[in-house]
Amino acid sequence: TTPNCQAYRASILHFTADPAFNDNAYHWHEDGLLVIAEGRVYAAGDYAQLRGTLPEGVQINDYRGKLIVPGFIDTHIHYPQTDMIASPAPGLLPWLETYTFPTERKFADEGHAAEVASFFLDELLRCGTTTAMVYCTVHPSSVNAFFTESEKRQLRMVAGKIMMDRNCPDFLSDTAEGGARDSEELIRKWHKRGRQLYAITPRFAPTSTEAQLQLAGELAQTYSDTFLQTHVAENTDEVAWVKSLFPSARSYLDVYDHYGMMRPRAMYAHCIWLDDHDRARMRETQSAASICPTSNLFLGSGLFDFARADAAQVPLSLATDVGGGTSFSMLQTMNEVYKVARMGGTYLPALRMFYMATLGNARSMQLEGTIGNFAPGVEADFVVLDPHATPLLARRSTRTESLEELLFALALLGDDRTVAATYSGGRLVHARGRQLAETEP
Ligand code: GUN
Ligand code: ZN
Repeated sequence: TTPNCQAYRASILHFTADPAFNDNAYHWHEDGLLVIAEGRVYAAGDYAQLRGTLPEGVQINDYRGKLIVPGFIDTHIHYPQTDMIASPAPGLLPWLETYTFPTERKFADEGHAAEVASFFLDELLRCGTTTAMVYCTVHPSSVNAFFTESEKRQLRMVAGKIMMDRNCPDFLSDTAEGGARDSEELIRKWHKRGRQLYAITPRFAPTSTEAQLQLAGELAQTYSDTFLQTHVAENTDEVAWVKSLFPSARSYLDVYDHYGMMRPRAMYAHCIWLDDHDRARMRETQSAASICPTSNLFLGSGLFDFARADAAQVPLSLATDVGGGTSFSMLQTMNEVYKVARMGGTYLPALRMFYMATLGNARSMQLEGTIGNFAPGVEADFVVLDPHATPLLARRSTRTESLEELLFALALLGDDRTVAATYSGGRLVHARGRQLAETEP
């Protein structure tokens, strides 16, 4: 017998390898069946083959005409910046001063933090994102509020307290020792509690003293199965600032390297102004780059260089970077990253973009086997995409002649409207146009 079993009939797409470097990287079942047991994938395959293997009495949910893919993963996003998305500024540093710091100040209030975290998670689910690497603010209570809301929804989320002890307003400053102590307490409280995972989160080199970076690096070594997240080489003014603050470092990335912060599960946002030595260190240490196209275009930061990153085999991932990013949707993020790559002479097939948003991002976080595809035993986080969600998308998608063309139309034209339903751990957590009951299975 198979307890707590559900089946979903739809077209099914998921990946087992990176299509940029492998043939046979994906499974496509035009008339497919996804079978879930106890919140995990039991089987994914052709409907005709799997229907006969279903235990007696299993209900088949009919999503024919739609496409099921693994839940999207966003490797870099700031939940406290939800309320300031789409705030104009001439570049990163004035944007931080004018909008970001005053907005983050409000998260000293845990009630405010909980309300924003709740909206933020609902918005992610509306867009089909089931896992994200999330920055909180400097306040430990902002982390407690976030994980409490995530745990309520039984989501797999990664988050951490920002560490920053200089070059920021007093009301947002911790201290080297205080920030490390608070981070360690939060690790002990939240890391691997249910589906929650902790990320050590020094904001970026300019807002940390050497003492703080030293302690962040020590935490990263001591708690080696935690995540680490920061920003690097986003903007040329920022790069020049780092050069003046750390004159003996070989490069911006080298500041982090020096303090032992490059390792698997370390996620470096932006990585625009790196050199080939930096890229080699990313590969050697299996640190991952988080590419944030909507943010980079919005803030005028620059264009991520796919050709050089691929040549150096840098572990890559794709992210929104809301509120610097302008959309919560990983489909809209694909739309923009496609154009960023084109500008740099690289052609990104839609298959690669869907790989990045699912298994590729899971791999960049060392979470293959836990999330990211439909291999047996993987957590049942998945999205139901509707190629007929809007009149234009319906018109275009009915005229596509290959899987690649269909995916490309979804990536370029899709957004939250394209997400008909989102499931996390086998539970329905979003259904478009419908208010879910608290007791929904
Ligand atoms: N660099 C340091 N802090 C931030 C932030 O909040 N957003 C972005 N995009 N870059 C940063
Ligand atoms: Zn960011």
